[in-house]
Amino acid sequence: MDEFVFHNPTTIYFGKRYEAEVGRIAAQYGKRVLLHFGGGSAERTGLLPAIRKALTEAGISYFELGGVQPNPRLSLVYKGIELCRKNSVDLILAVGGGSAIDSAKAIAIGTVYEGDVWDFYTGKAFPTKALPVGTVLTIPAAGSEASPGSVITKEEGLLKRAVNADCIFPRFSILNPERAFTLPPAQIANGVTDIMCHLMERYFTNSKPVEFTDRLIEATLRTVIAAAPRVLANPTSYDDWAELMWAGTVAHNELLNTGRVGDWASHDIEHELSAIYDIAHGAGLAIVTPAWMKYTLKHDVARFAQYAVRVWGVEDNYFDPERVAREGIARLEVFWRSIGQKVRLSEIGIDDSRIAEMARKCTDDDAHTVGHFVPLRSKDIEAIYRLAL
Ligand code: NZQ
Ligand code: ZN
Repeated sequence: MDEFVFHNPTTIYFGKRYEAEVGRIAAQYGKRVLLHFGGGSAERTGLLPAIRKALTEAGISYFELGGVQPNPRLSLVYKGIELCRKNSVDLILAVGGGSAIDSAKAIAIGTVYEGDVWDFYTGKAFPTKALPVGTVLTIPAAGSEASPGSVITKEEGLLKRAVNADCIFPRFSILNPERAFTLPPAQIANGVTDIMCHLMERYFTNSKPVEFTDRLIEATLRTVIAAAPRVLANPTSYDDWAELMWAGTVAHNELLNTGRVGDWASHDIEHELSAIYDIAHGAGLAIVTPAWMKYTLKHDVARFAQYAVRVWGVEDNYFDPERVAREGIARLEVFWRSIGQKVRLSEIGIDDSRIAEMARKCTDDDAHTVGHFVPLRSKDIEAIYRLAL
C-alpha cells in the first residue's frame, strides 16, 4: 500500500429531510448566495422554488445564474465571476449534477483570482483559495459533490480540461435520493457508467498489495451493477436510488484511492470526445473504457482476471487467465448495452476523421503521457480510439 494523506472536508446531508433545511445549512457559510443551476430540470421538478423559499426564510439574499450546459462552458463561468464580484457573493450554491457543480467551483476560484480562471485549467496557476461552494445534488454520477475536481470546456479550441484542488471541495452537499426519480433513462445510464468508471479507474493500479481497497471497490461496483437495472425498471425506488447515490459519492470522494494510484487515461481520452462532439461524459466512457481495457490488458492479465472473477462472477481458470480477463471486459460491454449505452463510436455516428487530432490534444502533442497503469503516448491513444470504432 502506498503512503497517503486522506482528507475530505465535505459535510454530507443524506436523506429526505435535509433539503428543507438548505436555508439553515447555507446560512452557516454565507448570507449572499449565488444560486447556480442547469437548463431547467430543477425548476420543473419544484426543487428550485423550494430552495428559493428556504433561502429567503433563512434571511439569505440570493442572485441567480442558470443555464449551465452539460459539459459546462467557460463563458458562463466568466458571467458567474462577474455576478459574484458585483454582488459580494459569499457562498455559491450549485443545484444539479456535475456540470452545475463544476461550473460553481470554477466561479468560486475565479472570483478571488486576479488573472484568468482558465489559468487553473491549463496548469499555468494553481488555486489555493475559493469562495465556499455548497451543493444540492440531483443526479448520482460525476461525484463532484464531494470531490476536489472541476471540469470545464473552453469553447475556443474546444478544450475540456480539469483542475483538482483542496480549496474546491464543497463545504456541504445535500443528497436526497428522491431527486433522482425524475431522471430520464439515458441520464441514469450515463450516471451509472460514470460511477463505474470512477471505480475502475482506481481499480487498475500498479500499487501492490492493495487488498482492502480492491475489496471496497469491488463491493461498490457490485452494488451499482445490482441497483442500476432496478432503478431503470422502477425510477421511484427510493432504496435503490439511495444505494446508487451514496455509492456514486464514495466512488469519487478520494476514499477508494487511498494507498493506490489510479489510472485515469480513459477519462482523459473521453474528455477529448465530449469536447469535440459534445456527447455526455458517461456515454463517451462506455465507448472508451472497454477499448482501453483491451489495449492495456496484457500489462497485468492477473489484475484483469481478478476483476472479471470478483466483479462479474466469471469462472476462474488458472491455465488461461487471459480468457477470464477478456470475458470480464465482454460482460462489462453486455451490461452497459443492457442499460442502454452504445459501446462503439460508430454506433453514435463518430468516424475516424478526428482521431489523430484528439490523440494529439490529449497528450498536448506528446508533451506528456496519459494514464498511470500504462502511460500512453498519442500513438497508443489513437490505437484505443480505433479499437473503439
Ligand atoms: O440541465 P438540467 O435541465 O438540470 O438537466 C440535466 C442535464 O441535462 C439533467 N438532470 C440532472 N438532474 C436531473 C436531470 N433531469 C431530470 N431530473 C433530474 N433530477 O441531466 C443532464 C446531465 O446533467 P450533468 O450535470 O451534466 O450530469 P453529470 O452529473 O453526469 O455531470 C457531467 C459533468 O461532470 C464532469 C463531466 O466531465 C461532465 O462535464 N465530471 C466531473 C467530475 C468532478 N468534478 O469530480 C468528475 C467526473 O469524472 C466528470 O468528468
Ligand atoms: Zn467521470
